[in-house]
Amino acid sequence: PRVSVIGAGNVGRTLAQRIAEKNLADVVLLDIVNGLPQGIALDLMEAQGIELHDSEIIGTNNYEDTAGSDIVVITAGLARKPGMSRDDLMNVNAKIVVEAATKCLQYSPEAIFIVITNPLDVMTYLVWQSTGLPPQRVMGMAGVLDSSRLQTFIAMELGVSTADVHAMVLGGHGDLMLPLPRYCTVSGVPITELMDEITINRLVERTRNGGAEIVKLLQTGGAYYAPASSACTMVETILRNQSRLLPAAAYLKGEYGLQDVYLGVPCRLGCRGVESILEVRLTDAERLDLHTSAASVRQNVHLALD
Ligand code: NAI
Repeated sequence: PRVSVIGAGNVGRTLAQRIAEKNLADVVLLDIVNGLPQGIALDLMEAQGIELHDSEIIGTNNYEDTAGSDIVVITAGLARKPGMSRDDLMNVNAKIVVEAATKCLQYSPEAIFIVITNPLDVMTYLVWQSTGLPPQRVMGMAGVLDSSRLQTFIAMELGVSTADVHAMVLGGHGDLMLPLPRYCTVSGVPITELMDEITINRLVERTRNGGAEIVKLLQTGGAYYAPASSACTMVETILRNQSRLLPAAAYLKGEYGLQDVYLGVPCRLGCRGVESILEVRLTDAERLDLHTSAASVRQNVHLALD
């Protein structure tokens, strides 16, 4: 199989490395900067004999080279800089993402699209809208990352193996995300049985600020190792038709009482993309939070379309 990764920045190049070293697919890494994707691809290829994988990695500035991709992952776009408003970032990234998606579709009409560029839920909506693809073939990556952050914090707090912890975070990728402690477990035991409410709330808050915590530490940009791992899991699930249940930004058609919006919900992912959306039972408060998150995404979509 073939996966195109658009944007050879921190997230894109790390994702390319993960896909290749897991032997999942050949990777086409595309960026607007001349030489950048070519240099990274060559560097990664020069480790092939040591890492012992068979994936070919091609760096390019030309969309023709992405032809025949099974999956296109979009990471292209600006990260926030001082003096830039959120709306500035949104409008700049909207143009980049829409152009990338429509050009990729031209050469890979059968591809499934995974969007990573922020603001995530808004960019995913724009990719769906501009490509005119069936919604099951366009999704956004955020929930796997937000859930794995919560999973990590729970494991650290309890001193248990991360592998035994399962966590679920729904909603938009931002301050209004909706971590669901009621549905987090350690080897099947709900964490609400293992921790007090104050501790749980602390972990939930840390998850909400998980991205910002890393931006503050790095000073030079955002997180990319865990984001790349999260996207790679989605790529693997789709390529291998694994039917894993993963939170992803998906197009809602009435699920959770919401319509015509992209939002993080539990999805069964397989070779056709979002095979189905699972509706978990929510309390009135959780449902209200999800609707608030949806309203914020919708408002930003309108701003981006203006
Ligand atoms: P980065 O700045 O390291 O890389 C972005 C790359 O996009 C650069 O190499 C740049 O040259 C390229 N680019 C810009 N315009 C382009 C165009 N028109 N065509 C092709 N390539 C273009 O940024 P990083 O850290 O890789 O993050 C990328 C995006 O992913 C950001 O918007 C970031 O906020 C988002 N992100 C989202 C996460 C999520 O959970 N959904 C997690 C981490 C990052």
